[in-house]
Amino acid sequence: MLRRSLLVLYGSQTGTAEDVARRVGREARRRHLKTIVTCMDAYDKSQLVFQSVVVFVCSTTGQGDEPDNMRQFWRFLLQKSLPKDSLASVRFSVMGLGDSSYPKYNYVAKKLHRRLLQLGSTALLPLSLGDDQHDMGCDAAVDPWLENLWREVLALYPLPPGLEPIPHSTLLTPYLRLTPASTVTSSSHPMSPSSLPPSRAHPFRARLVANKRVTSPNHFQDVRLITLDISAAKIRYKAGNVLMVQPQNSPTAVTTFLSLLSLHPRQMVSVETSDSNPLPAALQGRFSLHHLATHYLDISSVPRRSFFDLLAQFASSEREKERLLEFSSTEGQEDYYSYCWRPRRTILEVLADFPSAAADLDPSYLLELIPALQPRAFSIASSLAAHPGSVQILVAVVEYQTHLQEPRKGVCSSWLASLDPGATVPVWVVSGSFSFPLQPHTPLVMVGPGTGCAPFRALLEERNSQGESANMLFFGCRSATADHFFATEWSEMVATGMLTLYTAFSRDQSFKVYVQHCIEREGGKVWQWLEGRKASVFIAGNAKRMPQDVQQALQSVCEKWGGLDPTEARAYMASLTASCRLQLETWS
Ligand code: 2AM
Repeated sequence: MLRRSLLVLYGSQTGTAEDVARRVGREARRRHLKTIVTCMDAYDKSQLVFQSVVVFVCSTTGQGDEPDNMRQFWRFLLQKSLPKDSLASVRFSVMGLGDSSYPKYNYVAKKLHRRLLQLGSTALLPLSLGDDQHDMGCDAAVDPWLENLWREVLALYPLPPGLEPIPHSTLLTPYLRLTPASTVTSSSHPMSPSSLPPSRAHPFRARLVANKRVTSPNHFQDVRLITLDISAAKIRYKAGNVLMVQPQNSPTAVTTFLSLLSLHPRQMVSVETSDSNPLPAALQGRFSLHHLATHYLDISSVPRRSFFDLLAQFASSEREKERLLEFSSTEGQEDYYSYCWRPRRTILEVLADFPSAAADLDPSYLLELIPALQPRAFSIASSLAAHPGSVQILVAVVEYQTHLQEPRKGVCSSWLASLDPGATVPVWVVSGSFSFPLQPHTPLVMVGPGTGCAPFRALLEERNSQGESANMLFFGCRSATADHFFATEWSEMVATGMLTLYTAFSRDQSFKVYVQHCIEREGGKVWQWLEGRKASVFIAGNAKRMPQDVQQALQSVCEKWGGLDPTEARAYMASLTASCRLQLETWS
């Protein structure tokens, strides 16, 4: 007889896939299934063959990349040497979360589903794909998928005689349980020193040296060049690396949050975990509720439907309870989307709208209710050669309006922009998607509109120090006088002959000029670098359509200047990608 157990593995970059995986876990526990929910890289892969039912929830990031916390698992699964029937005893279902406005929509989930079939596993259900572009986001696909999943799983593992599913109204123990510790006056959460390079578990607290606005004062967007002192850290970075920043909530948001929940800021707490996952490093030890709310809880994120479901359990007001349950129900999806998702209403604002639920909330459930603040990634904009002991990042301060009165603000960029010299910022370095050519003489064509120029500024500084002069940069911004980052530096490099620069100022004339227009205009030269000098091409930036548009322009160059027909030009571009001579780093 099969053991009634379910393994839920997730690969999650921003926390959405983890949230869905945890929901699967909760629903499984209500059906009396022994359940483990963990990110793929924390799972002991050798145990996979012993599992009979495995549910995978994974997102696709960037240009079809897998989330960081499933990288090792993914590499293991894709090994050619794995025997064709190595997972023959496993039944599985894959739920992918993606965004169809990006190329390679749900690429990872599609490949994972195919790969599991190749390894002999049996699909319990067809591949399910959630799309952020759907009016109702990914949930539109998650709800029906879960219904089908439970039908299949219960057919395999019927409920034992005499057992009913645990009703919705019964609270399950949270997987991370907050428990009170004795009240002391100061918070003393350890950031333990480590002999290893800084990491998420042990970030380096870098001192902010400069926080300079690099857009003109009247420009619509505030972009900062932030300089951090890392001289005391074991951090060696190179061009192409990414700086991870662990943000914190604003003091006002923290105070509002604690008072809405009637929590004492100095109350000391610790955390117990109910599943087999180790506690995240940031939750080890004892710390105050103020510390937890400042550094760990993502109180400015948009709550997911599971938030309403759990919050409803605490509401003493019947009216609030009813409304919260409505938002979390399948029938109430549309209401949830217009109240919460579309206007980007935050957890803090929702708690203020439901004061009885907030005030009666059992704090031991805080970590079940509110997701963790995620670190943010910034392409490093400096080189150690030019800035010994420092690292620089270019940060666009996120702020936009919805129909709500208060503007929506990005937690990390607003926090960084608010800091004065001397403040500390928890950071660590990871590799980015670019791997720049090992051969220093390789000519480079770089395309980086807006903050996309950051990794190229790092690379140009590095190459400048090595005397490498075969550098072509296409930079784009709105106006020569508003957001022309590093203008002086670029012109100095042009003057010394180490840079060929083309700029596209999109709004300095009556029609739009973008980097791709410059690429087409300079097609002869681009083709000569590409084919004649075997240049490598790097594209970075955050405009959604930009990477495709630029690649389209490059393809036109191949046709016009290389004399290739459209099929040959496409094949040429594909061969550049395959040989890593065309690489992308994009963000939204
Ligand atoms: P716009 O805002 O005037 O449309 C940096 O953000 C620069 O990238 C801006 O000049 C911006 O122009 C431009 N940009 C916007 N969409 C783009 C696209 N699809 N391709 C290339 N550049 C784009």
